[in-house]
Amino acid sequence: MTAYEKLQKCLACVREKTDFVPDVALILGSGLGALADEIEAVATVDYHDIEGFPVSTVAGHRGRFVFGYFGKVKVVIMQGRVHYYEGYSIQDVLLPTRLMRLMGAKVLFLTNAAGGINKSFHVGDFMIIRDHIMSFFPNPLIGANIEELGPRFPDMSEVYDRELSKTIRDTAARLDIPVQEGVYCQLTGPTYETPAEIKMLGLMGADSVGMSTACEAAAARHAGMRVCGISCITNLAAGISPVALSHQEVFDTANRVAPFFRRLVRESIEAMGEAL
Ligand code: HPA
Repeated sequence: MTAYEKLQKCLACVREKTDFVPDVALILGSGLGALADEIEAVATVDYHDIEGFPVSTVAGHRGRFVFGYFGKVKVVIMQGRVHYYEGYSIQDVLLPTRLMRLMGAKVLFLTNAAGGINKSFHVGDFMIIRDHIMSFFPNPLIGANIEELGPRFPDMSEVYDRELSKTIRDTAARLDIPVQEGVYCQLTGPTYETPAEIKMLGLMGADSVGMSTACEAAAARHAGMRVCGISCITNLAAGISPVALSHQEVFDTANRVAPFFRRLVRESIEAMGEAL
């Protein structure tokens, strides 16, 4: 079965449960999943019920699609994503993003927990993703190109849509939520970085680091979606942080700032409604 046939099969499973056609696809990162509980769900589909769908094994990630509205905007939320470090093939890691594209989503809104590299960042800051570095991660589009989705050599000169990013910035200003802006670097994980690696990434222009997002953004751009994203700086990166890194710190910070994060994401998406 080709990757596209597998996608079509997954789409058929979703369509058995709901015919909802989303405008925006939202992926929620570690500790940020509660946003999906706020939406009045029109439908939900458990990943388990989608044949061939990769199911996350990480604590803090729930496995389902939630369909509903933020204002007038039709949203599909991925409550829990899958990561490459869990052992899935990159094709499987990209499958949910591509599936949401096939459901009809035109915009992908990415969120993640990330380590702060930029020295001016603080724990709990939000960073609008301006660009990414994916060069230390296997290119997710290696392999037979899925012609039905996009071109062999997709342009990546503006992965993160300027207009959508401006909507997030304007929404943050209106809500009086401070935001940073910067470059996100994706590594495979699951180890956190060494101080030497963080120093290298900083010299190369990275402001935050994590284990997701860039590959999903690349797949979404390949498939013609408009993309935006926010990192929640859950910890200072290795060597900058005075303490050892832990998933507990990541989780605790994400939980602490979640009310602000949820408001920013929800109201940004509502504000995008005008332009979609
Ligand atoms: N490094 C990598 N991934 C992360 C970090 C980090 O410091 N914090 C949250 N996700």
